[in-house]
Amino acid sequence: MNHPAQSTELLRFCTAGSVDDGKSTLIGRLLYETNSVYEDHLHAVGEASRKLSRDTDLALLTDGLKAEREQGITIDVAYRYFSTPRRRFIIADTPGHEQYTRNMVTGASGAGLAIILLDAKNGITTQSKRHGFIASLMGTAHVVVAVNKMDIVDYSEDVYNDLHGEYADFAAKLDLPGLTFMPISALCGDNVVTRSEKMPWYEGSALLPHLETVEIAGDRNLIDFRMPIQFVNRPNSGFRGYCGSIESGVLRVGDEVLALPSGGNTTVERILTADGESDYAFPPHAVTVCLADEIDLSRGDMLVHPGNQPQIRREIEAMLVWMDEAPLDISVDYRLKHGTAILRTSVEKITYKVDPDTLHRADAGTLATNEIGRVSLGLFQPIPCESYQRNRSTGSFILIDPESNRTVACGMIIDRLPDEGGVISANITRTQSLVSTDQRQRFFRQGPATLWLTGLSGSGKSTIAHALELRLMNMGQACYVLDGDNVRHGLNRDLGFSDADREENIRRVAETAHLFNDAGMLVIASFISPSRTFRDSAREIIGDAFIEVFVECDLDECERRDPKGLYKKARSGEIKQFTGISAPYEEPGDPDIVVSTTQLTVDQAVDRLLGLLRQRGVIGAR
Ligand code: ADX
Repeated sequence: MNHPAQSTELLRFCTAGSVDDGKSTLIGRLLYETNSVYEDHLHAVGEASRKLSRDTDLALLTDGLKAEREQGITIDVAYRYFSTPRRRFIIADTPGHEQYTRNMVTGASGAGLAIILLDAKNGITTQSKRHGFIASLMGTAHVVVAVNKMDIVDYSEDVYNDLHGEYADFAAKLDLPGLTFMPISALCGDNVVTRSEKMPWYEGSALLPHLETVEIAGDRNLIDFRMPIQFVNRPNSGFRGYCGSIESGVLRVGDEVLALPSGGNTTVERILTADGESDYAFPPHAVTVCLADEIDLSRGDMLVHPGNQPQIRREIEAMLVWMDEAPLDISVDYRLKHGTAILRTSVEKITYKVDPDTLHRADAGTLATNEIGRVSLGLFQPIPCESYQRNRSTGSFILIDPESNRTVACGMIIDRLPDEGGVISANITRTQSLVSTDQRQRFFRQGPATLWLTGLSGSGKSTIAHALELRLMNMGQACYVLDGDNVRHGLNRDLGFSDADREENIRRVAETAHLFNDAGMLVIASFISPSRTFRDSAREIIGDAFIEVFVECDLDECERRDPKGLYKKARSGEIKQFTGISAPYEEPGDPDIVVSTTQLTVDQAVDRLLGLLRQRGVIGAR
């Protein structure tokens, strides 16, 4: 049976797994069960399988019949299509072997969902973690972790629960909002198309119904209209149309539009689509747009709405996945392809590379094949762009080697520049205060300082911070506590506990502390701030006023205290990404002072901190 393709919604998904975990069998089964396999192909498979004296082997449908299969590795990404009455599907089938990170990246780009296969018998492998990391890096909106081969483990609920728990702990460190787990057997067809009777303990949906119903309409960016111009169609002097694909947002006839970078303004007169003239268009429509006035707009430029513009940047921060055999060479001026524009770029700095298995960051002088790192790029001319998180098309790019013309890397733009703490428009300049730092210090009778208290939840940071604040105020010093829980009620109410959100939490707080210090006040900042990198960037923002205080208390003791009952919730899985339980905490290597709350009373801890402030000359001697 064939289903009408046009009217139904399209879901692109990618599959990733380790060698032999049954990915091909799963895809084969999806194709088979949805009657998407051509008769002749099926026949060929039957023949080949007979030779191998097996029943119809579904893996042969996808792996082909070549030697490749014997090696157990499929290389490159293969696209497969099937449909059901509810949706059309495109599968990007990517191999699971460790070397093929780049293939998974290719497969995941543009995919709305990723299926990560775990083998119930072999458990979680390095590759399965890597796939989760890449799905998170690529902003994949939905991830299904399918625990396959349940038939081999007698459909054991315990086996499933263990794998589910272990992978969920790992995934908590990533940015994977839509994560679903399911136990399946691709070989026997359990929980693939219908719920399996062999696993009555599983209450979720089977895979295919999940693929058919997972909510994807909201995943598209229909807010920020962006249309990179592919070419200008001018068959005769009477017609001028600008052709390109709408990457995001909605365009309507009559809309006011702005050309970037020229800045020309006009309105939309006509929109021509493959199906004729239309009043509106949205992604992924390829359209020709006719404008009311002639403006400066050519290939590589971008059309946007004047009230919703991307940033124009000459420097960008990005996560880079290096794909070429030759490693990144910082002395080469690569070509950056962004939308339809191609321009020269240089890699100014490799901030770090990430180990996708442990998620640890390490210094790097280069990036080799399949390595992933954060870089700063300098562009030879400014481009309109935004973060990948906000807009997958204008937030991504590829790098091309100028000599060989090979695609060497793909990149995802990050919002901030580390050196500037943000992207500062050329139209913003600093104004100078008429009050001097000296004058403020005399006014408050103190020097600026931020005591940055870092430590586990429950270590006693807030208690010490507030006790210290009270003592300082009673002594006549002007100070203020910035506390994680409080700030997260206001300034940072939009932030959660993913790595990126915690980093942003710390950045904003550091900027705030800096302003308070600039105003002449003392700041006591009490934040878990679990990563050294975050604290280092806080130190960079706050400068010499930064004093790192490690509030030391071992995890067992924090968990025993559990003042807010959060450890209990973290253990039961109710809270995810909880520091110390399901998210890491890096102790400071060389803090300015350590206060151990298992050894000191609150008053003693406060005394020590006051002692340090006196010693540094921040406040006067008694
Ligand atoms: S930080 O990691 O970004 O520095 P912050 O100090 O602002 O964290 O907030 C930590 C407070 O948020 C904790 O004291 C706790 O009350 C609460 N909280 C809620 N969820 C979490 C979580 N997953 N991990 C850590 N703290 C959490």
